[in-house]
Amino acid sequence: MPEPSAEWWKSGVVYQIYPSSFSDSDGDGFGDLPGIIERLDHLERLGVSVVWLSPVYPSPWDDNGYDISDYTDIDPRFGTLDDWDRLRDGLHERGIRLVMDLVVNHTSDRHPWFTASRAGEDDRRDFYFWRPGREDGPPNNWGAVFSGPAWSRSEGDDEYHLHLFSPSQPDLNWENPDVRHAVHDVARWWLDRGADGFRMDVINFISKNPALPDGPVVGDHGLFTEHSINGPRLHEFLHEMHREVFTGRDTLTVGEMPGVSVEQARIHTNPANRELDMVFQFEHVDLDHGPGGKFDPRPLDLVEFKASMNRWQKGLGEVGWNSLYLNNHDQPRSVSRYGDDGRYRVESAKTLATTLHMMKGTPYVYQGEEIGMTNAHMDDIADYRDLETLNHYRTMVATGRVDHETAMAGISRMSRDNARTPMQWDSSEQAGFTSGTPWIKVNPNRTEINAEAAVADPDSVFHHYRRLIELRREDPIVVYGRYSPLMEDDPRVFAYTREWEGRRLLVLANWSDREASVEEVEDVVRPEGRMLLGTHPEPERVLAPLRPWESRVHLFD
Ligand code: NOJ
Repeated sequence: MPEPSAEWWKSGVVYQIYPSSFSDSDGDGFGDLPGIIERLDHLERLGVSVVWLSPVYPSPWDDNGYDISDYTDIDPRFGTLDDWDRLRDGLHERGIRLVMDLVVNHTSDRHPWFTASRAGEDDRRDFYFWRPGREDGPPNNWGAVFSGPAWSRSEGDDEYHLHLFSPSQPDLNWENPDVRHAVHDVARWWLDRGADGFRMDVINFISKNPALPDGPVVGDHGLFTEHSINGPRLHEFLHEMHREVFTGRDTLTVGEMPGVSVEQARIHTNPANRELDMVFQFEHVDLDHGPGGKFDPRPLDLVEFKASMNRWQKGLGEVGWNSLYLNNHDQPRSVSRYGDDGRYRVESAKTLATTLHMMKGTPYVYQGEEIGMTNAHMDDIADYRDLETLNHYRTMVATGRVDHETAMAGISRMSRDNARTPMQWDSSEQAGFTSGTPWIKVNPNRTEINAEAAVADPDSVFHHYRRLIELRREDPIVVYGRYSPLMEDDPRVFAYTREWEGRRLLVLANWSDREASVEEVEDVVRPEGRMLLGTHPEPERVLAPLRPWESRVHLFD
């Protein structure tokens, strides 16, 4: 078991495993827990200290496991509870903690709570939101994240049920104390079994305006109204869960919060408020969404992106704590999205990582990111599996709002399936992921981009990540140093310093394929210093121009 220490989640790095695409041990084309166990050496070599495991619970699989029908078991496709125990032990023996995904804004519509609720059983009816429709349709004007209205009525139902995601993901009614107690029981059950904390799915959706009124649509997707998220009892619910579940335990909690502001996040992560250790915010990853939303992407404006990142660094710099991510199972691959997945793939993957990992907060690495995996570039809609993508395609093309080509252009850049293609372990036909047929196609670039090749090459993206993780573990300046942005208006360079006990770290990163001057940061350079890490051989001068996609980390003692 890893040594308890109050700050382990500040000095460590979290690795996210999306289990269906990580490693398949039995040849059914689908990743599983024994498959993960076979790959633990990879995680140990990388040096991460926490694994966040995306859902492995029994699920009808409408939303790849984010629709759960039993919170305290393992879906047979992933294995058994015994396998989970073995995974927990294997990780703990290596000093790595295990964080589970707590998906409790909604259940699956096959969860026994929902079937009893739909049947009108007294103590369960109020576990969900049931409302009569209005003359012209659903009870209010809220939209669902996965297209269409947020209300559905099945045959035989008198009333509509609320679902902020798909109709098969009904929202739990957190106003009902029995719901909250049931959720606390689930969380305690996993902690008692040896889990080390939770990533909490869309946790700011659990409190809604109790009157469920019509509302103006906020956000770029036309999905959320100001009444359906960040509701009046959110702080109370989180505080109560902290008290009932986490008090006295050595855990990590990170709440996923689309639409959260930095001011709200500071309240949620202020340790004095006893709510959450950190949140996943979305501001930076929403910046390339165009007027038509995420599937209508626009080029990234680096000045805008830096302004956002810098605001969060400052906002949670003294009180609260940031989570740092560019990738997860819901986002396209960062090297394709923000970097250059052609000529400068290796350099740009390293530079994106350097920029993120030297900031203040806890970095998250999503499987495959550490070897510079790219978008899938699939151009046939039949190859996609993701519900959000398929719904978008159907709605947009069927209603004639966009034509097939335009829809596919957006999908191939932004679909969540870009992140969900199998982990590329080696160059073989199925990338060493499975001996069978994978549930989603392997990226053909497995021949060049794979873990075996990356581990063997000392200059690979993998070893760069390993060093970044090591730096954080070894030097408190990376964990605690005060962050100050530099060159805020420069459209190509991302630069900042971190300061701690008289020492200064300087991070210079060129987010472009053209040489870039950094002379203007002259004031922060001290005569004595050394380069800790760089994407290219060390130049003669600290302020030598940055080569295309070059980044350097200098330390001045
Ligand atoms: C956020 C999860 O990350 C995403 O994959 C899922 O579809 C929604 N929440 C609904 O659970």
